Amino acid sequence: MTADERREELKVLLQEARTCTRCAQLASTRATVVFGAGNADADLMFVGEAPGANEDKQGLPFVGQAGRLLDQLLSEIGLSRADVFIQNTLMCRPPGNRDPQPGEIQNCSAYLLRKIELVRPQVICTLGNFATKLLRDDPTGITRLHGRPEERRIGNLDVTLYPLFHPAAALYTPAMLETLRADFAGIPELLREPEAEAEPVAELQLGLF
Ligand code: URA
Repeated sequence: MTADERREELKVLLQEARTCTRCAQLASTRATVVFGAGNADADLMFVGEAPGANEDKQGLPFVGQAGRLLDQLLSEIGLSRADVFIQNTLMCRPPGNRDPQPGEIQNCSAYLLRKIELVRPQVICTLGNFATKLLRDDPTGITRLHGRPEERRIGNLDVTLYPLFHPAAALYTPAMLETLRADFAGIPELLREPEAEAEPVAELQLGLF
């Protein structure tokens, strides 16, 4: 599939997701479905936990305080949101920001995998425990895994998986912020040089329409 075809498929998936009712409770309490946003042909993808109140209102991932920190960390390695694709383990806000439940994670995982297969990133950074455990299919926690890249097959794609602490965890803990910053500094070298014949990057702010 060409980059244009993958982007069109992503738009079809977005329309499907907008009316998803697989999780009855979340479908009844959400304001919006937060599908994900950014460059539809990104080499670098981030997978967070779940939308919070701000994300639920705006329909975009990481637009609150943790999102501002994510923007800052990206800019420190010379990247912006337009360079990456950001999504969450769950597309709907758990009421009261409770933890995602196993059944909800399972319900949303088909969307998550399809988005990975359509964007085709080289590197996926999981932010925090939920995304890390899901994409590694293993209960090992983020404290043991952060900052260590792993080669993985996810869906039909070979990727470098790079577990990171969730930015929300670093908001009020300076030592954690320094660890996250040091781990972020390892991202550029994980991104392979673009191949000479690579198609031009098509940019798409999916959350914006
Ligand atoms: N935390 C997340 O995990 N995702 C968001 O989109 C916002 C905060």
